[in-house]
Amino acid sequence: MENSIKAYLKNNLTAEKYRHVLGVTSTALKLAKKNKTDADKTLLAALLHDSGKNYKKAKQKYLKILKKRLDKYERSIPALWHNKLGAIVARKEFNIKDREILNAIKKHSYADMNMSKLDKIIYVSDLIEPNRKFKGVEKIRKAAFKDLDKGFIYALKSKITYVFEKNAPVHPGSVNAWNKYVK
Ligand SMILES: [Fe+2]
Ligand SMILES: [Fe+2]
Repeated sequence: MENSIKAYLKNNLTAEKYRHVLGVTSTALKLAKKNKTDADKTLLAALLHDSGKNYKKAKQKYLKILKKRLDKYERSIPALWHNKLGAIVARKEFNIKDREILNAIKKHSYADMNMSKLDKIIYVSDLIEPNRKFKGVEKIRKAAFKDLDKGFIYALKSKITYVFEKNAPVHPGSVNAWNKYVK
């Protein structure tokens, strides 16, 4: 399974995005070990989290199903379409039916009111994998490896701040996650 997913990703993602996925996967597996989370599920969720980034092929192929699943916020923010598209790719191309894996893929960019350990691991790894170089990343990295919950809040704050600074709409999932998990 791992090899067929990697072959699919190599074919469908840019080299840079593929490198990002491998970075997310290695970070996520380390966090999973530290937080006693299922390594197989983590591997699949991490590998497939951006599988919907391939807008040209997958988007066309699954556009009809995707459109039915988008909420009103997502419809106006195309950058968020790849979450649900990724979950569709995981199901349709790789027959993954595990809800925990599919949820982690769906929640990886704007989070949600309820975040499992796996959801948090994928969310955080997406932001702190070794290829990420933005200002402040080191603080989030350190926090995440010390305490996943803390790392998650730092990551969420960083992403919400980024969206605010762009004057873009914030998905309610991010706000709900913030209100529930901030301490
Ligand atoms: Fe993504
Ligand atoms: Fe990603």
